[in-house]
Parts: sequence; structure tokens; C-alpha cells
Amino acid sequence: MKKIFLTGASSGIGKAIAMALTEQGHEVWGTSRDASCLSNISRLHPARLDLSDSRSISDAFNAALAEAGHFDVVINNAGSGHFGPAENLSAESITNQFQLLVFGHIQLMQLALATMRAREHGLIINVTSLASRLPVPFMAAYNAAKAAMAAFIMSIQLELPDSRVHIIDLQPGDICTEFNNAVHKGAQYDSRYEAEVAKTWVMVERNMAAAPKPELVARHVLKLLEQINPPPRVTVGDTFQSKLAPFIFRFLPQRVRIWGLKKYYGL
Ligand SMILES: NC(=O)c1ccc[n+]([C@@H]2O[C@H](COP(=O)([O-])OP(=O)(O)OC[C@H]3O[C@@H](n4cnc5c(N)ncnc54)[C@H](OP(=O)(O)O)[C@@H]3O)[C@@H](O)[C@H]2O)c1
Repeated sequence: MKKIFLTGASSGIGKAIAMALTEQGHEVWGTSRDASCLSNISRLHPARLDLSDSRSISDAFNAALAEAGHFDVVINNAGSGHFGPAENLSAESITNQFQLLVFGHIQLMQLALATMRAREHGLIINVTSLASRLPVPFMAAYNAAKAAMAAFIMSIQLELPDSRVHIIDLQPGDICTEFNNAVHKGAQYDSRYEAEVAKTWVMVERNMAAAPKPELVARHVLKLLEQINPPPRVTVGDTFQSKLAPFIFRFLPQRVRIWGLKKYYGL
């Protein structure tokens, strides 16, 4: 039995991970901004955490740690996105994306790392995104935040001495969750972009509807927990998005990458 801290356990990928872990007998401290949204299942301990508030992150982690005694695994999963032209993105929404997906995630990773380094044991799984490498049009701040987090994780992986503390960058492709509902909320379109935004949104929705279920990510997480020497980066999703596209992308010149992504989203 492992003790696990998991953010964003109320919905989508986090909820599927929470279900899979508790079914396997693990104790999970799962978070939401509203703890009443968390499933009432045994071995799931509800915690309130808001990534937009750094105090809430440390309070939630420290209170859960005091209850649990230690964490074997911390899963940095919670997050949301935005949708709209980069040209018109307000400084506030860019800052908000970076607070949630970079500063909040880094803060939690550092809190986890401090306790794990003291015990010389532990696993941190950071859920970033394939959007860090294959950006989605009209999600510029989201793509950039995920890329920043991926670079930060790789930097820590370079610096950490060989030990039994492992950090993984888990990069999902499209996974069928409630993610797009939050993304589209409050979207503002500059009229010059209206047609392109609409075309892209159709593709984004279509991809999401056809995407694998979040239980696929949960199964990958269960496998990672069993590995003595887990991989530093893992991609999860359908074969084209998670395997073929990132592989081919590596060898393409930038001009062809941009052309290919435009074609993919019908732009
Ligand atoms: N679905 C995809 O296609 C996909 C692809 C690549 C990466 N990802 C990443 O996977 C992670 C989970 O996304 P999902 O698809 O499962 O989305 P989801 O179904 O919308 O779930 C998002 C989770 O994050 C929590 N959350 C949202 N904003 C938060 C905030 N400000 N503070 C604390 N918690 C917050 C939500 O909890 P409450 O609302 O209850 O607080 C919820 O539990 C995200 O980091 C996302 O970027 C998703």
C-alpha cells in the first residue's frame, strides 16, 4: 500500500487515477477546489487545494502530510486551459495559466521533493501535455506553460543525484474529459480570428470526443508505480498523437512542423 497525494481528483484524469489507485488498496489524498466534489469512496481522503493560491497549495499539502505521515507518490495533475487568439490574450489570463500550470506545479513538486529527499525515497508524477511539443492553436499560454513545466522537470532530472527519488513528466495527448468545458468558458474572439477560431474549435472538440478515456492514463500510472527505475518522460494517448506524431516531429524543420499543425487543425 502506498500513500499518494493527487491534485485534481474530482474530474477527468485525476478522478480516474484516484479510482484506480484506491481500488488497488492505496491511500489517496485527493484534491479539488471544492472538496465536496470528490467521490465518496474508501481510501480517498478529500483535501481542498486551489492552484491559483500558493498559500492554499502549501496548507493542503502540509495538512495531508501531517495526516499521512509521509507520501510515497505525489501526482501533480490539476489544471485547466483557455481558448482564444494569442494576439489578444490579456496579461491576466497568461499570468493565470502560468500560476496554475507552472508556479503552482513547481511549488508542489518542491514541497514533495523536500520530504522525499529527506526519506531518500519517492515518486513525483507531473502531468504536463503533448501540447508542450505539439502546440494547439489558440491555446498559446497553455502550450507555453506546459512547455515551461516540461523544461523545468527536465532541469530537475539533470540536477538530481542518483537516488530512489524519481520524477516523471507524463505527457497526455487528447484524453476525453471535461477539460474543454473549462477551456471554452469565457473565450473571447477577436472578429478577425473568428473563422479560424471556429474551425479549430470544431477539430479540438472532435479530437476530444474521439480520444481515449482517462482510465488509459490511470492504467499507465499504475504501471509507473510498480517500476523500480521509471522513465523520465511518458506519453499517453492514441497511437498517432502519442507515438507517431512526436516521433516524426523531431526530424522536421520548423516550417514543415507549422505547416503540418495548420493542416491538422484545418487552418
Ligand atoms: N484532457 C486532455 O486532453 C489533456 C491532455 C493533456 C494534458 N491534460 C492535463 O491533464 C490534467 C487534468 O486535466 P483533465 O483533462 O482531467 O481536466 P478536467 O476533467 O477538467 O479536470 C481538471 C481537474 O483539475 C482541477 N482544477 C482545475 N483548476 C484548478 C485550480 N485552479 N486549482 C486546483 N485544481 C484545479 C479540477 O478540480 P476542481 O474544479 O474540482 O477544483 C479537476 O479535478 C491537466 O493538467 C491538463 O492540462 C489533459
